[in-house]
Amino acid sequence: MTVRTEPRSLTVHAPAHDRDEAWWRHAVIYQVYPRSFADGNGDGMGDLPGITSRLDHLAALGVDALWLSPFYRSPQHDGGYDVSDYRDVDPRFGTLADADALLERAHALGLRVIVDLVPNHTSDEHVWFREALAAGPTSPERARYLFREGGGEVGEEPPNNWESIFGGPAWTRVCDRDDAPGSPWENDGQWYLHLFDSTQPDLNWENPEVRAEMESVLRFWLDRGVDGFRVDVAHGLVKAAGLPDWTGHVEMVAGTEDEPGGTARPHPPMFDQDGVHEIYRSWRRVVDEYPGERVLVAEAWVDPLERLARYVRADEMHQAFNFAFLVSPWSAPRLRECVEESYRVNDAVGAPTTWVLSNHDVVRHASRLGLPETGKGPNGIGAEDVQPDAELGLRRARAATLLMLGLPGSAYLYQGEELGLPEHTALPDDAREDPAFFRTDGAEKGRDGCRVPLPWEAGAPSFGFSEQGRSWLPQPDGWHAHAADVQDGDPRSTLELYRTVLRLRRELGLGLGSLAWDGEHAGSGSVVSFVNGAPGREDVVVLTNLGAEPVRLPAGCEVLVSSGPTTDDGAAVAVPQDTTVWAHR
Ligand code: NOJ
Repeated sequence: MTVRTEPRSLTVHAPAHDRDEAWWRHAVIYQVYPRSFADGNGDGMGDLPGITSRLDHLAALGVDALWLSPFYRSPQHDGGYDVSDYRDVDPRFGTLADADALLERAHALGLRVIVDLVPNHTSDEHVWFREALAAGPTSPERARYLFREGGGEVGEEPPNNWESIFGGPAWTRVCDRDDAPGSPWENDGQWYLHLFDSTQPDLNWENPEVRAEMESVLRFWLDRGVDGFRVDVAHGLVKAAGLPDWTGHVEMVAGTEDEPGGTARPHPPMFDQDGVHEIYRSWRRVVDEYPGERVLVAEAWVDPLERLARYVRADEMHQAFNFAFLVSPWSAPRLRECVEESYRVNDAVGAPTTWVLSNHDVVRHASRLGLPETGKGPNGIGAEDVQPDAELGLRRARAATLLMLGLPGSAYLYQGEELGLPEHTALPDDAREDPAFFRTDGAEKGRDGCRVPLPWEAGAPSFGFSEQGRSWLPQPDGWHAHAADVQDGDPRSTLELYRTVLRLRRELGLGLGSLAWDGEHAGSGSVVSFVNGAPGREDVVVLTNLGAEPVRLPAGCEVLVSSGPTTDDGAAVAVPQDTTVWAHR
């Protein structure tokens, strides 16, 4: 099969070069999960000094910024997404001085730093929740959260039928807590809402005090010099009035629709309510007061993509993770459809598209794409489950990454994907920490498998993660082969592939280009092919072959980089299955 790369019947998307070139429109941002990046004090848990000591790795990789998952004071019932003090660093991770030092070093290396903001819920150890329990029903302290009277004859039923995203009911009754302040039958049989774990009570965003407090938290970190915020559960802050019953199951990691043309799920009353947008407009005003284009990025599992684009309207957030791309099956028509739709909706609001393939909540894409069924994937994989094909998964992951990084817009990488790290699919259950595992009685293995501490040095204890050789989650034996020092300098390694691709992407300005489909393959069942172009530079052809038959590039094509080996019979380069190339025509 020959691909004619002369684009015909073009549809051009994301002509970003017509707009300002703000850094976040094209940036590649690397997610650091602090528990698992690098341990500076030998306790087996990663920390801020550990991250600072390894920032050179990120500078050498060629990313523009890092996003730090939460490092705030927290009892760690959900890996730090249960914050008990938004203005302090948890002692496990260091001190505020360590946070300042990290920021300073990152900035000196030319890296921007985005931190996580968790506004939907606090920890139940947050002072506000302690006060709310103590103050009792109808108090202003309880009005900061979503406390309600129960149903049934004596309030013994939860106020509505909502389920927690981690499994089980979304309500806990105060009197069922070990620390319940008084007798339920006198005056305190109230329940509180928690969309996640019972240790993560949802805040009441109708309460002006909550709004003022979170704006003050934004300013606290902006004043310290952070470059932006990744906003956790950005679609969840406002709930439908009256908290109506809803017979559906909410999932954090959800696809848009089951099948193309299928029926979208009914709109849940706990997510994507119109009221959230006013909050982000007010936050945008706050971040815009600061110099240097500080940004807001939405973690919002919202569908369809048109609804997601509302979060990145000109006066709201800057970016929103494109999870539709992450959960897309490994299928050329599905990928093309997703890319096409993403640009359509984001172009309409003048926003970049923010691509992502992995994060701390999903099965790593080097494993997800090696499962018999690609797409959203399970919530964790256990030893007794169907195992991914590691070789196939890595080959596809490398191809998917080159496809993603060839697309105009911004992109997020998740720590370890540059090492081609697979999911840990055989963690012992007694090592698991994800509340989803416990709240589903083990039916869902949960997210620990993508959170295993990184291998830095093949020969060192805990592969260099921690000098004392400790690691809060066990690392698989075979991970020496993935260690950064083994891959360094090996042109076939995934680490060197990422370095090359990130350098080329920057040099060629691909993040700010525009996309034109290769007309020849616009309807292909197995090839995704487009031209990334921009005025003043040569076009770059990006071609991914998902089909069994090799695809020949036209004679004269110069391959810039390839996710795997290609063949050349002297007349033309052929791209084998599950491979992406970038080429000049
Ligand atoms: C999304 C975060 O990414 C996830 O890790 C967390 O468990 C939930 N939000 C709740 O904060």
